[in-house]
Amino acid sequence: MAGFHSFSFPYLSLAFLACFILIHASPAATDEPTRLVDKVCNQTSNYTFCVETLYSDPRTPEADSYTLAFIAFGAAYTNANSTRDYIAELLKNNSSQDYHSRLGICSHDYLRAVSKLEEAYNDLNSETFFGLAKLAGVASKASDHCQNAFRGISSPPLGSRNGDLKRLCEIGAVIAKLFTGSS
Ligand SMILES: *[C@@H]1O[C@H](CO)[C@@H](O)[C@H](O)[C@H]1NC(C)=O
Ligand SMILES: *[C@@H]1O[C@H](CO)[C@@H](O)[C@H](O)[C@H]1NC(C)=O
Ligand SMILES: *[C@@H]1O[C@H](CO)[C@@H](O)[C@H](O)[C@H]1NC(C)=O
Ligand SMILES: *[C@@H]1O[C@H](CO)[C@@H](O)[C@H](O)[C@H]1NC(C)=O
Ligand SMILES: *[C@@H]1O[C@H](CO)[C@@H](O)[C@H](O)[C@H]1NC(C)=O
Repeated sequence: MAGFHSFSFPYLSLAFLACFILIHASPAATDEPTRLVDKVCNQTSNYTFCVETLYSDPRTPEADSYTLAFIAFGAAYTNANSTRDYIAELLKNNSSQDYHSRLGICSHDYLRAVSKLEEAYNDLNSETFFGLAKLAGVASKASDHCQNAFRGISSPPLGSRNGDLKRLCEIGAVIAKLFTGSS
């Protein structure tokens, strides 16, 4: 019994210390963005969105442009993949024919976006950079095309998701240009 108490105390204080350190070291969003993140995000349409997105990944504070490209294209891919699932859910929930035909367009668009972003991810894995910006552009256009499918509808069901994917692709395209030197 005595042995248990004398051992558990130091472990508890270590746990407290660990919490203390974590609480004080972790608020990445309030850290100054790195020069690289600043340079990238400054070239996007929404600096705050860009910084928040990149800093939602713990690798960002130490990331070089190659890692940052993985983070950006990974975020875009995950977003598109999850919206593709969401569209399938929306299709199940609503039997209006007009709504179905509009969503059907978006379903194709997101299939395309996911496949292009997957291709981009594979290109990154093989350090093939020249096609990245174009792939990001195609995925971005897919989100525009889906947005247009709901033109005239007062609250389009994918409005904010389309906007997010567009901005994520924009970040990817800016990073892609770091490798190919074009702008
Ligand atoms: C950010 O972009 C603006 C113009 O778009 C430029 O004037 C400014 O120097 C840039 N800042 C950085 C840190 O790159
Ligand atoms: C920019 O992004 C931030 C964070 O996502 C958002 O709160 C803000 O509304 C966006 N600004 C514009 C002009 O879209
Ligand atoms: C993409 O979504 C599917 C479900 O539709 C899921 O099974 C898969 O794991 C997702 N892919 C990634 C890489 O997250
Ligand atoms: C679909 O409908 C179910 C039951 O009404 C609801 O729980 C779910 O959130 C809906 N999904 C979407 C994507 O609207
Ligand atoms: C289906 O979508 C239409 C068009 O957005 C909407 O008016 C209707 O209320 C929806 N029906 C259901 C069951 O969600």
